[in-house]
Amino acid sequence: MPTPIRSSEITSHSHYLTRRDFIKTAGLLSIGSAVLAACGTPPTDAPQPRTQLAEATPTQIAKLDNFGTPPNTLEQISNYNNFFEFSTDKEEVAQLAQAFVTNPWQVEVGGLVNNPGTFGLEDLLNDYDQEERIYRLRCVEGWTMVIPWDGFPLHKLLSKVDPKSEAKYVKFITAMDRDVMPGTKSIFYQWPYQEALRIDEAMHDLTLLATGIYGQPLLPQNGAPIRLVVPWKYGYKSIKSIVKIELTAEKPKTLWTTAAPDEYGFFANVNPEVNHPRWTQTSERVIGSLGRVPTVKFNGYEEEVGALYAGMDLTVNY
Ligand code: MTE
Repeated sequence: MPTPIRSSEITSHSHYLTRRDFIKTAGLLSIGSAVLAACGTPPTDAPQPRTQLAEATPTQIAKLDNFGTPPNTLEQISNYNNFFEFSTDKEEVAQLAQAFVTNPWQVEVGGLVNNPGTFGLEDLLNDYDQEERIYRLRCVEGWTMVIPWDGFPLHKLLSKVDPKSEAKYVKFITAMDRDVMPGTKSIFYQWPYQEALRIDEAMHDLTLLATGIYGQPLLPQNGAPIRLVVPWKYGYKSIKSIVKIELTAEKPKTLWTTAAPDEYGFFANVNPEVNHPRWTQTSERVIGSLGRVPTVKFNGYEEEVGALYAGMDLTVNY
């Protein structure tokens, strides 16, 4: 459980925006870290950026999320991971996951579809243009990173298999190999890891099947070779190392809604107005910085996805 947060530790959103504009301008002018350093040290009361600018390389500054924030380094992204099949210790996952074989790989897509199929990773890489998407990843535990993913929107694959009209949900299942995944010995969770989306969420253009980060294939700890990324939802929806996708009429059970339904809902949209029963969701710790920033509804993607939830009471843990 996180320690209580002092308000002085939190960067206000307006302060953050001021800083953000500075970063954005710097990015637009394609100024590298050396030139930025020459702009001088910010005054001591300056707001903290989501990631420390001093650490940002020119490559990072060339890539900004929709808040104008540069991404975390690959080092940070690949050494602080949640992949419970390996370990609940975020700093241990990278090493334990090295034994996980992710090539060759196939994804089976079936259920309520007209054209079910099994797709090899190579086919998915060749058949769909790999786009770069720079998204924030907000974990339900209260930390955040910016990650430059490569991949393709899930709707392209779903259109190919042609969902039947009865299909209302899309379920995803992670690979499971007990021999190399020591975490699956835990009887607290129902393995394999399973997640699901409503079909309109799955068809949304922001919903990505990621195959890489920073132009390199995904590392095992990040969910190689293919994973889901749903940037407006808490990170647990972004299921890793997918082997099966199934379209269903009924709302599927998920690992988290089964393990702790009062704490982890099915929708899991990022919402600073609804605290986790054991900790606040009003702010988040920025990985790679000492600071916290206010959490933004739908993780800052409300304009794109808010309409999906029109009429729903977002304070209810569905
Ligand atoms: N997928 C599987 N199969 N197993 C997991 O434990 N953890 C989830 C999600 N996907 C998880 C998973 C959680 S809680 C988060 S925050 C993100 O993966 C973390 O992704 P990252 O380690 O690439 O940052």
